[in-house]
Amino acid sequence: MRRSVPELLLAKRNGQALEPDEVRGLIQGFVRGEVPDYQLSAFAMAVYFKGMTREETVALTLAMRDSGVVVDLSEVSALKVDKHSTGGVGDKVSLALAPLVAACGVPVPMCSGRGLGHTGGTLDKLEAIPGFSVNLPLSRYREIVRDVGACMIGQTAELAPADKRLYALRDVTATVESIPLIVASILSKKLAEGIDGLVLDVKFGSGAFMKSVEDARSLATALVEVTRGAGKSCVAWLTRMDRPLGRAVGNALETIEAFELLHGRGPEDLREVTLTLGASMLLLGAKARSDAEARERLERALGDGSALSVARRMVAAQGGDPRAVDDPSVFPRARVVGALTATRGGYLTAVDTHAVGVCGVVLGAGRTRAEDVIDPSVGFVFARTVGDRVEPGDTLATLHVRSDEDLAVARERLGRAFTYGDRAPEPVPLVLERVG
Ligand code: URA
Repeated sequence: MRRSVPELLLAKRNGQALEPDEVRGLIQGFVRGEVPDYQLSAFAMAVYFKGMTREETVALTLAMRDSGVVVDLSEVSALKVDKHSTGGVGDKVSLALAPLVAACGVPVPMCSGRGLGHTGGTLDKLEAIPGFSVNLPLSRYREIVRDVGACMIGQTAELAPADKRLYALRDVTATVESIPLIVASILSKKLAEGIDGLVLDVKFGSGAFMKSVEDARSLATALVEVTRGAGKSCVAWLTRMDRPLGRAVGNALETIEAFELLHGRGPEDLREVTLTLGASMLLLGAKARSDAEARERLERALGDGSALSVARRMVAAQGGDPRAVDDPSVFPRARVVGALTATRGGYLTAVDTHAVGVCGVVLGAGRTRAEDVIDPSVGFVFARTVGDRVEPGDTLATLHVRSDEDLAVARERLGRAFTYGDRAPEPVPLVLERVG
């Protein structure tokens, strides 16, 4: 017998698992306007407190995926693989990874997000490229994946609209931090893109949403199990986000750094995460049989210019100025550039990465209100990082800001983000473990 919505809410509130059909019916009713926002908000709160079984989470994810268009990329015969990061500070991996992996023969259809809280977003970084559009019709997205191998767009109104509406409710009902709801939200969009496989970068540490490695592991495990439950191949990596990734933070500066990597330069930590995730994407895309072979292919694509070539073609296909891939002077530049210097000597033992992200947001690299317009030129380039020894007066970072007042704010906030000690901290691995 079919249960009414109040009966389903009561069951969930009491900790009972719902049938997959019941979860699907609830989401379908929500999308059709038959289940009002207040009932879905109550559902989200019940899930927040009582959780969901894997079966329920798969049903929720698929129902949200099916609330809109599921892109058909079957005209592209190769296995298509995307990557998702749970977000951090300085995480510009996607911008280098998509063209790199596509250059190795694995098409990358990528639907990305904007900055969230203190973290940056791939779409905001891409929009630092003059002319680049992340709002393409799905027909053009399909063409670019087919012809170039990589396309990076935002969530359109057609992709997982139930997620868009449920996310807005969660945002104002204190129900964002629920693993099943996060999993369904992330994966409903990813599974609508037309992928065969997904590689996840689940971050932990002061600059991540999951502060502890245990929480990151739980999220990674749930993401992998639900993606597989939806019939797609999936691997997750736990990576450290207790310092900015790479040297640059801020939209134009990060995009320039990602393209540097494709030129065979760029910071070692960024390269390590990119190659780790890229190797898994080649394995899921059946373009390599071992991690070593995958890494060799990726290195070759970095060395022979083929990754750069895909990047230029992708930027041009999405309306951007392809010179941006090779020439940083194409990007908007900040009005004021100044240095942050060390106030004392010693070892840098920690950096409050959340505070670095918030500082960027406050100065215009992110949004504090949905309607805020980002200034792509704002950001920082760190000269020193955790583990380095510094003398008083050494430059810690170059600050790119909009005014002298902002320079003072940046110096004050970022100066406080560093912790000094008399001994070098123990080195810690950047890539911790694979899940799945
Ligand atoms: N990103 C999403 O897309 N959804 C969440 O719920 C959290 C992060």
